[in-house]
Amino acid sequence: MEILVLHGPNLNLLGIREPTIYGTVTLAEIDRRLQEAAAPDHALRSLQSNHEGALIDAIHEARTWAHGILINPGAYTHTSYALRDAIAGVGLPTVEVHLSNIHAREPFRHISLLAPVCLGQICGFGWRSYLWGLQALLAHLEEESQPGK
Ligand code: DQA
Repeated sequence: MEILVLHGPNLNLLGIREPTIYGTVTLAEIDRRLQEAAAPDHALRSLQSNHEGALIDAIHEARTWAHGILINPGAYTHTSYALRDAIAGVGLPTVEVHLSNIHAREPFRHISLLAPVCLGQICGFGWRSYLWGLQALLAHLEEESQPGK
């Protein structure tokens, strides 16, 4: 399977950004761990952007090559109807992940505008939210490609 891994705004600062909330693992290290988990059977392409439009463009482009999307939308989780529409529009199976438990934080973080158009959401487990999100997405795609297995 080919998977688009998308990281939203401010996630480039992982490692130095509010480490008590987001941990000390850098984004490059998360990407490396995901690549390791995906190999040798699956291929990942990762992109981080602080720009909503760039994330939307990447989702549109994924239509041409990806089987699914793993996304940490950062704060766009709580604000972006446009990202939600992009995910719904391309129709690719998508899993939403967050390092922190957004439901245990400030009230504005409790709402995900994207969750209703995603397969599911994994949050609160630090970098392992990405790992388990990837595993969930791959399991879903494999089951879809081999019904009954
Ligand atoms: C986050 C949670 C969001 O509320 C926040 O804006 C982020 C990171 C997380 O991974 O915990 O930027 O998506």
